[in-house]
Amino acid sequence: MAETTGEGAQGGSFFNKERIKYSPEEEARLERQHFWRIIDAFRFYRVHVQEQVKRAERQFLSLPQRHQNLLPNVLSNLARISQCADHNQDILQAIVHNSLHMFENIEYGEREDPRKVRPSTTFDMDKLKSTIKQFARDWSETGRAERDTCYKPIIQEIQRLFPSDQYDVSKVSVLIPGAGLGRLAWEIARLGYICQGNEWSFFMLFSSNFVLNRCEKVNSLTLYPWIHQFSNNKKSSDQTRPIIFPDINPQSLPLDADFSMVAGDFVEVYRDSDSWDCVATCFFIDTAHNVIEYVETIWKILKPGGVWINLGPLLYHFENMANELSVELSYEDIRTAIVNFGFHIEVEKQSVQTTYTENDRSMLRYIYDCVFFVARKPAELYFNDEEEEEDDDDDQQQSSPPAAKSPRREGTDTLT
Ligand SMILES: C[S@@+](CC[C@H](N)C(=O)[O-])C[C@H]1O[C@@H](n2cnc3c(N)ncnc32)[C@H](O)[C@@H]1O
Repeated sequence: MAETTGEGAQGGSFFNKERIKYSPEEEARLERQHFWRIIDAFRFYRVHVQEQVKRAERQFLSLPQRHQNLLPNVLSNLARISQCADHNQDILQAIVHNSLHMFENIEYGEREDPRKVRPSTTFDMDKLKSTIKQFARDWSETGRAERDTCYKPIIQEIQRLFPSDQYDVSKVSVLIPGAGLGRLAWEIARLGYICQGNEWSFFMLFSSNFVLNRCEKVNSLTLYPWIHQFSNNKKSSDQTRPIIFPDINPQSLPLDADFSMVAGDFVEVYRDSDSWDCVATCFFIDTAHNVIEYVETIWKILKPGGVWINLGPLLYHFENMANELSVELSYEDIRTAIVNFGFHIEVEKQSVQTTYTENDRSMLRYIYDCVFFVARKPAELYFNDEEEEEDDDDDQQQSSPPAAKSPRREGTDTLT
């Protein structure tokens, strides 16, 4: 299931920084504190799961002996869950190990005693468990069907709007805000487009850094993403079944591929007008405190003629969270705002059924009835009147930066 909350919401400071302005020093201190809080969560995982397993054991052992005798496999299954958690912890340690100095421009100092494991909140443990499931979605064969329903429509639309026989795709820039573990952005870069993923969560950033930069050997690593689910298992072994990853070598991008990941809050990082040919959002817009702020940012950063492709539900992440701004708009209302900004909606499907980090053997399964749309920021924004339009058209051919143009409206224009 998709996340319902932002990681900075508990403990307060990180997400709020956009609205509460701190001094640069205080800002840096809070960021450091947040960084270490998430590292601590990665380190605390084993203890947390073992506590759950011990509780399950205690509950089982409190049953009348005659009932226990009827269930010969329960304790061995719990022991197996424990082993799987140990294995998950090994992967999480490797992720942490590769995260401590991962940012080119920031160092977060060192912990006094890095071996000391500090307890984490249930909230952070839930985020970590969701991150483990995200490996299945993005980087395993198990996630292929889900990727086909979520990522393929976006990729196909990019290829339709910017076909390689009409555009120099190495000059078409695509931004993926809320990129998760980066697979969608990576796939777009693999097709030759300039693609940048943007992500705010350290859980995701640490993990995507690991998989993108440290995992070369196909299907060489194992995770057990479903061990945390104690309900709705048909077979005990369903809970402990593994996934292997990465299903493809993340280092196998063509040498000239232009792929990057940028850390930070989407609305803070992306402020330059008229910069992107395409912004693609997948299960992202409902992460906003104010979704209209996202629409506004996308409108601003798209080049005139650029397109916004969106697929996802509206499971608002901050709904019902104390002290957090959250405006839960219907799709109808968001659509009205999109049109009022000036976007032209060119493609719209209001019922695209997808899953999100689905456990396909669970007795409880969620289906999202997503909206999919393509909205274009009109190219005509450059021009004030007909005459200017003609003049500018000539100029633009020679000097302006490549703006995305609709092949449908602009015929055979290419980006050069
Ligand atoms: C539901 S997940 C979707 C991830 C990915 N797009 C996918 O489809 O698997 C939403 C992602 O957006 C990220 N996110 C939330 N708020 C963000 C913000 N303000 N800026 C950048 N990323 C953000 C979250 O950390 C999370 O990874």
